Amino acid sequence: MEKDLQAIFKEKFGEEATGSYFAPGRINLIGEHTDYNGGYVFPASITIGTFGLAKKREDKQIRLYSENFPEKGIIEFSVDDLDYDKAHDWTNYPKGMVRYLKEAGFIIDSGFEVVFYGNIPNGAGLSSSASIEMLTGVILKDLFNLDVEMLEIVKTGKKVENAFIGVNSGIMDQFAIGMGKKDHALLLDTNTLEYEVVPAEFGEYVVAIMNTNKRRELADSKYNERRSECEEALRRLQTKLSIDSLGALDEETFFANTNFIEDETLIRRAKHAVTENQRTLKAKKALQAGDLAEFGLLLNASHTSLKDDYEVTGIELDTLVAAAQAHLSVLGARMTGAGFGGCAIALVKAADWQDFVETVSKEYLEKIGYATDIYQASIDDGARKL
Ligand code: GLA
Repeated sequence: MEKDLQAIFKEKFGEEATGSYFAPGRINLIGEHTDYNGGYVFPASITIGTFGLAKKREDKQIRLYSENFPEKGIIEFSVDDLDYDKAHDWTNYPKGMVRYLKEAGFIIDSGFEVVFYGNIPNGAGLSSSASIEMLTGVILKDLFNLDVEMLEIVKTGKKVENAFIGVNSGIMDQFAIGMGKKDHALLLDTNTLEYEVVPAEFGEYVVAIMNTNKRRELADSKYNERRSECEEALRRLQTKLSIDSLGALDEETFFANTNFIEDETLIRRAKHAVTENQRTLKAKKALQAGDLAEFGLLLNASHTSLKDDYEVTGIELDTLVAAAQAHLSVLGARMTGAGFGGCAIALVKAADWQDFVETVSKEYLEKIGYATDIYQASIDDGARKL
């Protein structure tokens, strides 16, 4: 950790913290915008994330400070008053966690103090909010000796996004961050929550994370719009087919029944959900078989589908991905996360890393007018006490 958080804790709260905790961010290898369609996702937790130092209090006050937002100072509220409050800004994420864990019957009866510090670039689409939620869950479990499973903390995080913050996201981010395993990716069936831990072995290749450095404005409303479009396409298909989600459809059945959706835009949205789901299963098999060339082609196909059919990319992500795909040492590249900005990933030959970074950075700067940041992803364990 590049900050002396214990010194900061002492300065802010007068005493030393009793525990130190970490929750990672995540990348998604493939399976994008499938998690709210009952499909598969294939994410992994990464070494960058959110650190937290915490200590219980005797009274009812919850006092939170983030070294990422020092100008906001210590934000505080009572453990007995956990309503969403816009003025409480970023602390609504931890607040929502306390609220829903309490509502689920876990006893959190006193206040506490936390210093947060995250090294996930702001707005990068690497799930800094889910990282804060999972970190809070791990802190509460430890401070209050809660008998709570990680899966319940994961589900609570999703509930915070959906019901407290108002983003209709799926379960991928919290699941990847809560259940992640060093050097592995998780193939998760979001319909059943069954999952498989798959070695993320890329041989001579490494995974690059490329940040567009574009702020994800409007992302949440567009995200909710895509979700509603998929729900509408499903409703129309359900007039003819007995299915619970788009994820339940194979490609053949889908293409034989698109006429029931009627609307051209809705057909393209659903097409992405259905084909991406199949690509995710194929990609997992290719990775297990060591067929990285095939894995790379599936990454490329995923990006094309997100660009043309789902329309969640934009000029910045498309420029970055096209520049990466054009590089001879790259097997495949795609946006990762919600889209509309944020990050892309690429599978790059390690030996050619420097040339890759220089070439892609130059092209991005020329076309977009500001810089990208590119670094290598390392896959590490999920949220934990340090
Ligand atoms: C965001 C959401 C996830 C998922 C992705 C798109 O990260 O939080 O639930 O839907 O977008 O795959």
